This record gives sequence, structure tokens and C-alpha cells, in this order.
Amino acid sequence: MLPSRGRTADPAPPPTIPLVDSAPRDGDDPPSEADVREALRAVIDPELGDNIVDLGMVTGVSVSEAGAVQVSVALTIAGCPLRGQLEHDVTTRLVGLAGVASVEVRMGEMDAAARSEVMGRARWKARQNAPETGIDATTRILAVGSGKGGVGKSSVTVNLAVALARRGLTIGVLDADIWGFSVPRLLGMEGGIEARKGKMIPLERPVGAGLLKVLSMGFLADEDRAIMWRGLVLNRAVQQFLEDAEWGPLDYLLVDLPPGTGDVQMGLARMLPRTELLIVTTPPVAAQKVASRAADMARRGYLRVAGVIENMSDFTCEHGANYKLFGSGGGDRLAREIGVPLVGSVPIHPDIAAGGDAGAPVALGDGELAEIFSELARVIAEEVAPVIETSGCTARILDRVAEAVAAEPLAGGPPAN
Ligand SMILES: Nc1ncnc2c1ncn2[C@@H]1O[C@H](COP(=O)(O)OP(=O)(O)O)[C@@H](O)[C@H]1O
Ligand SMILES: [Mg+2]
Repeated sequence: MLPSRGRTADPAPPPTIPLVDSAPRDGDDPPSEADVREALRAVIDPELGDNIVDLGMVTGVSVSEAGAVQVSVALTIAGCPLRGQLEHDVTTRLVGLAGVASVEVRMGEMDAAARSEVMGRARWKARQNAPETGIDATTRILAVGSGKGGVGKSSVTVNLAVALARRGLTIGVLDADIWGFSVPRLLGMEGGIEARKGKMIPLERPVGAGLLKVLSMGFLADEDRAIMWRGLVLNRAVQQFLEDAEWGPLDYLLVDLPPGTGDVQMGLARMLPRTELLIVTTPPVAAQKVASRAADMARRGYLRVAGVIENMSDFTCEHGANYKLFGSGGGDRLAREIGVPLVGSVPIHPDIAAGGDAGAPVALGDGELAEIFSELARVIAEEVAPVIETSGCTARILDRVAEAVAAEPLAGGPPAN
């Protein structure tokens, strides 16, 4: 538990996800139960590290002719604080499916036998796959991507990181743009990464009541970079930043993705399947199409798209006149198209570029632009991707009681149906 966050013990109620269309779209038949299950494979139990379908947590699916979907999910522990997140993730996932008119999620609790089986399966999977990343199960991972470069991914990433940190949170920033790293410059931080017990220690920058922890290729000395680059695919460098680094407890990890839709996203999907994508787009239709392709890729790679951020949305000149230089509504259109929320819009403003050049992101200040990023951070932290609450949850008990649980049913709720 990080000292800086003042949270209540009760998990907040899950945010409601507005449906983009409240009726089935023209020509879309309701999905089959198998389609629903397939879509739910993208929902990961962050602590058990596997999808809820393979874990056996989806205990019932029904779809009405009108496209009303009902899903029953059995939790390992009824009071699990991850409950809200799972409910939210299941809903967002299904709302985006063609032909779905409404989604109802029923949360139940497993009986002791089912619980022990699920934990056995989770352990087995854990031994089979997962590379050991230095990222806690309680860290919410948001990768910031787009189909193309120059839309402001890095500027949005660092300003969002700053704004989240100002909420008193600890934010990791992983600069996954291995060739075109820009995070060190944007944050005015420079290298030497130190190693402790063979692990890289991210560089730190306190921000308000919070903290940034940053790793970038730009912090490595030239000769280290040469070693990392030699014979390495991009993805391997990112893997090293995840596995061979001591990140410590983080509330969020923001990943600044390189342009394009390739390797790094797929690698993240494999190493940290619970990674969610924030798509940055600019209003022009062209950029929108590219961004929508990025969303497609994310889906196929099973990264959930958490939301869209529109950057360079409009420009207000010094005389107060507002120009929609690239047209308007692109971000909103894209968000609707892929069935996710529009997290917010950031105007074009020379101070955003100047702040980046000076290593002093505008989000550090207290002007109008800082306010815009602060609102983006609020929407993310309160609605789109709330911090994971975990005290007393499954993985906490996974190692301690998994065996005992089978023999000794916990008091309380009835078995899930
Ligand atoms: N909202 C904005 N207003 C003004 N300039 C911006 C804005 N967002 C980004 N920029 C500028 O656009 C350029 C590209 O931004 P960058 O964040 O590096 O994009 P990406 O990471 O997508 O390649 C940079 O010079 C940056 O300062
Ligand atoms: Mg960039």
C-alpha cells in the first residue's frame, strides 16, 4: 500500500458505462453465447493473471433475441475489491460487441471446491507462461498508442503522468519508443540508470504529493544502448524494462508506445495481458482511420481499449478566436466507432510544445492547460480505469491458503450458481 493515497476501505461502485447505441445496430444479429465467451477471454483477473473464461469464472452466459446479454461471474471471494473492476471490464468488453443492446453482469461467489480448482489452474498457468515482470498485480497499466507518429502520444503520456501524480499517486512511465525516445527530454530528466542486485532502478521525479518513476532508453549510456540494440528486437528491450527493473509499487504504469501497431503491443499483450490501450488521435479523418486500425490490432492482440484522447483538437489564438484547424469531432467519432469513452480533448497550444522542449510539462503548472490534463487524469482515475483496490483479495491469499481452502470452506455467501 502506498502511503500517499487516501482511500476508503469500501471499493467505489463500478462506474456505469454508457452504451454507445442503446439498440442493436442495423443489420447486427445478437452475438452467440460462444461469441460472448470469446470476447470475455479478453477480461483478465489481474491478480490471477489469466482470463476469466479459462479460469472458469464465467459460470453462465445468456443472450436474448433482442441482444440483451446476461453474464454470471463467480469471484473467488465475494467481497473482493477487484469485483468492481471485473464488472466494469466485462461490461465494457461486451458493450463493444456488435448486436449487443444491454449488458447485465451478475457477480457471485465460488464454493470452496471451485475456488481451489481455479487457484490450482492459475498457479499452473503462472508456472507455464508468465515472464516475471517487476510490475505488481495491483498496478493499472495504460499503454498510450496511435497508428502513427506525431499525434502527441509522448506529450499526452508525460502530461497525463504528471496530472495523475498530482493526485498523490505513484506513476511509472515506461518509454517504449526505443528508437525515438522522447520522455527524458519532455520531463527534463537525464540518465544514468543505476542497478541494484542486477535490476535497473527507474529514475524518480517527485510531483506534488505523488511520484514519477521513469525508464527510457534515453537514460542508458551510449555503450549500454549499443548492447541493448545489438541483435535485439524492439520488444526485447521493452521486456527488459519490465523484467529486469525494480519498479516497486505503482498505482499506474503508463507506457509510451512507439508509432505503428506492431511488436511492442503484442509483446505487452503477452507479458502483461491486463494492459489497456489509450488511443491518441488528432481530428483529421486520416488520423482517425489509422487510429481505428490501431484499435483493431489491440483487439486482435487482446489488449482492451480503455478510451480515446483527442489531441490538437482546436486552437484558440491570442485574440480569443477559436479555430478548429483540422475539423472537429474526430476523437468522438472514433470513440463511438470502437465503443469506448472519449476521455477528453487537448487543444493545440504552443505552451504544450514549449513545456516539452523545456522539460517542464504544462500539467505541472496551474493554468488552463494544466486544468485540462487534470480533468483527463480525473476521468481516468475515477471513471475509465480506476486504481485497483486489492486488500484482502485473491492473490493475497493465493499462496497462503490455496490448499487449506479446499478442506475448509470460508464462512459466508452461498456457492455461485
Ligand atoms: N496539443 C499540442 N499542442 C501543441 N503542440 C503539440 C501538442 N501535442 C503535441 N505537440 C507537439 O507535436 C510534436 C509531436 O508530439 P509528440 O508528443 O512527440 O508526438 P508522438 O509521441 O505521437 O510522436 C511535438 O513537437 C510536440 O511538442
Ligand atoms: Mg513519441
